[in-house]
Amino acid sequence: MLFLVGDFQVDLLIKNGTLVDNAGLYPGNLGIVDGKIAIIFHGDKGYSADKVIDATGKLIFPGIIDSHVHFQLQDLGKIISTDSFASGSKAAAFGGVTTFIDFADQTRGESPLKGFQNRRQTADGHVAIDYSLHVSKTDLEYLDEIPTLIQEGVTSFKFFTTYSWRKLDLTDGQLVSFFQEVRKQRGFVVGHCENDSMVQYYRNQLISDNKTDPIFHAHSRPHLVEEEAMQRVILFARRTGVHLHLAHITTKQGSDLLAQAKSENLRISGETCPHYLLLNEKAYTSPEGYLNLMSPPLRHTKDQQALINHLRIATIDQIVTDHCEFSRKSKGEGKLPFNKVLNGIPGIETSLPLIHDLLVNSKKITYPQLIQMMSSNPAKLFGLYPQKGSLQIGADADLVIFDPLMSQRISPQILHYEIDWNPYTNFQVTGWPITTILRGEILCDNGKFVGQPNGGVFLKREHLNYVKS
Ligand code: URP
Ligand code: ZN
Repeated sequence: MLFLVGDFQVDLLIKNGTLVDNAGLYPGNLGIVDGKIAIIFHGDKGYSADKVIDATGKLIFPGIIDSHVHFQLQDLGKIISTDSFASGSKAAAFGGVTTFIDFADQTRGESPLKGFQNRRQTADGHVAIDYSLHVSKTDLEYLDEIPTLIQEGVTSFKFFTTYSWRKLDLTDGQLVSFFQEVRKQRGFVVGHCENDSMVQYYRNQLISDNKTDPIFHAHSRPHLVEEEAMQRVILFARRTGVHLHLAHITTKQGSDLLAQAKSENLRISGETCPHYLLLNEKAYTSPEGYLNLMSPPLRHTKDQQALINHLRIATIDQIVTDHCEFSRKSKGEGKLPFNKVLNGIPGIETSLPLIHDLLVNSKKITYPQLIQMMSSNPAKLFGLYPQKGSLQIGADADLVIFDPLMSQRISPQILHYEIDWNPYTNFQVTGWPITTILRGEILCDNGKFVGQPNGGVFLKREHLNYVKS
C-alpha cells in the first residue's frame, strides 16, 4: 500500500479509520477523487474535502466481490427466482458487496453469445453495484463464439456435470473438448461438479421408497457424488491444461482433492459458501427444512471443519454465496417432495458479517485473509484486480466501512430481500457493514439506501489468464 502526504483536494475523505487489504491493517486516511482512491496518508496533514466521514473505530475494506450469484434465475428460459437484478443488487450493497458476477446460461442448441447479450440487456441499467457475467455452456454448439465472448469481457465459462433434467450438463467427451477450446482461447472453466447418474439413481430410489422429506435431498447427493465428479474434472483439467475453478465445494473429500491438485501445481482454484460453513444437514430436519434445499446439499460438522481448515491454509481461495432467492410459495410451502423443491438460498447480504463473525472473531483467520477470500482473490482470478479488490492508489473507490463491534441479530426484517424468511434468522453476529461506497458514491449508510439504484455498470473482465490465479 502506498502512503502519500501533502495538500490535496478530494471529493470524499474517510479519516481516522483502519484500512484493511489483502496484505495488512494500516491506520490512515483515504481520499477519493473522481471515483478513484487518490490518496492515503497518516495523521492530520493539510487537505480539503467536499465530504468527510469520520471512521474512528471502524475498518475500511475494499468492496466485497461475490463471484457466484443468481439474480432473476432462469430455468429453461423462465424466470423462477424471487429477486430481480434491481432488488438483489440493492440487498447486496447493504451487505458491503460492490461487485457481483452472475451467469448467462446458454440455452441448449442456441447461441451463448445471444444468451450473454440477453442477460446484459436484462441487467444493464437495473443494478445498484457493478457486475459481470460468466457464460455457462450447455452443449458444444457455438464453441466458436468463445473468442467473441472473451472480447466482450467474459473470461470464465461454467459447466455442469449434472442437471441433465434441466438440459444443463455436458457429457465427459463434451467436457474434454470444451476444456481444450477454452484453454486454447485463454479463458478458464468453472465447474458445478456432481455425478449426474448417481444423483438420478439415488433420487429415484428414495422417491420410490416414499422418502420425500427434505433430509432425503442430502441423501440423494451423498459425498461421493461431489468427490467423483471433482476427481474426474480435475483429471480432464490436468490433461487439457485448462485452469479449473471448482464451484461451491461442500465436502472434506472435495477440498482434499483441491489441496492435492494444488500441491501438484495444477492450474486450479476453488470456492465454498457461507451456508456450507454455518449450516449442516440438521437444517433439513427443522419444520421449515424445505427452505434450505440447495445443491450441492448441506453436509456434516466434519465437512464444515475441513472446509474451514482449507480456507485457513488457503487451499480454498474464495467465499461466494451462490445467492439464489426463493419465496416460501416458490419453494412449495413444505408440501412438495424434495426432488420438486426449487434449489437455492439467499446469502449475498449476510456473507460478510457472518464470515467475519465465524472466522475472524474466532481468530481462525486474520482480517487480511478475510479480504483475500472475499475481495482480492476473486478480483484476481476473474480479471478485475487491482481496479477492484484493492485499496491501491488509482483503484475504484469501492469501499466498505465496517464496525467490528456492532452486534446484530439477523432476521428477515433487518435485511433487504424480497422474502420473509432467512436461513440465518436469529444468528447473532458481532461486526456489521455500516457504509458501502461504489466508485466514490455512498450507496448505503447506516441502514439507508442513499445512492443510485441503477448506478452499477457491466465490467469487462481482463483476458489476463493464463496466470494461475
Ligand atoms: O441450489 C443452488 N445452487 N441453486 C442455485 C441455482 C442453480 O440452479 O444452480
Ligand atoms: Zn450457482
